Amino acid sequence: MNKKSSNVVWHNATVTRDRREQKNKHKGGLFWFTGLSGSGKSTLAHAVEEQLFQQGYNTYVLDGDNVRHGLCADLSFSDNDRTENIRRISHMSNLFVQAGVIVLTAFISPFRVDRQNARKIAGTDFHEIFCDCSLDICEQRDVKGLYKKARAGEIPFFTGIDSPYEAPKAPDLIANTGSDLENSIEQVFGYINKHVQL
Ligand code: ADX
Repeated sequence: MNKKSSNVVWHNATVTRDRREQKNKHKGGLFWFTGLSGSGKSTLAHAVEEQLFQQGYNTYVLDGDNVRHGLCADLSFSDNDRTENIRRISHMSNLFVQAGVIVLTAFISPFRVDRQNARKIAGTDFHEIFCDCSLDICEQRDVKGLYKKARAGEIPFFTGIDSPYEAPKAPDLIANTGSDLENSIEQVFGYINKHVQL
């Protein structure tokens, strides 16, 4: 990133993160779902959010397809633009976490270094959840019909086809999203629930 802001001074809030968390009765956190398109990131994140929300937690899902309609609408799927996409999301997510929210992000985020940078930004609040689903299964599902288009050469740089996906080497959690979703929901809910207790 080319930093152009100068003469800016950080302003400290009197309503601190700690006070917000005491009020919410839980900690904020960043739960970062990564995986191929069609691997179930958004489905899983939303299903887990539903359970957390029903139990009174303050949550928010940030999702690739949605964020690319606004904040990141100017970005393509080139390597550089994906890096910029993830950089913006990382900072935005971190602001949500400072506001005491449990953030669940669903972005392909194909590059290890970008996810590592997200971890640097959010520190110990960052949890990497690998939605582990083979390309074959994602392609069979082809929920949005995009793999078919990519194979036909209609979408350049499609992740898993002609753009790389670097699977996490040491994720905090692996959700086997190639099979039964219910198991993954329970597993991820349990993980998050454990990590947001005060
Ligand atoms: S990321 O690589 O920058 O993290 P992001 O999660 O925001 O990607 O967006 C991925 C979504 O954009 C996919 O689920 C798919 O619906 C859509 N998409 C459109 N073009 C591509 C492409 N070339 N590669 C992957 N996904 C694409």
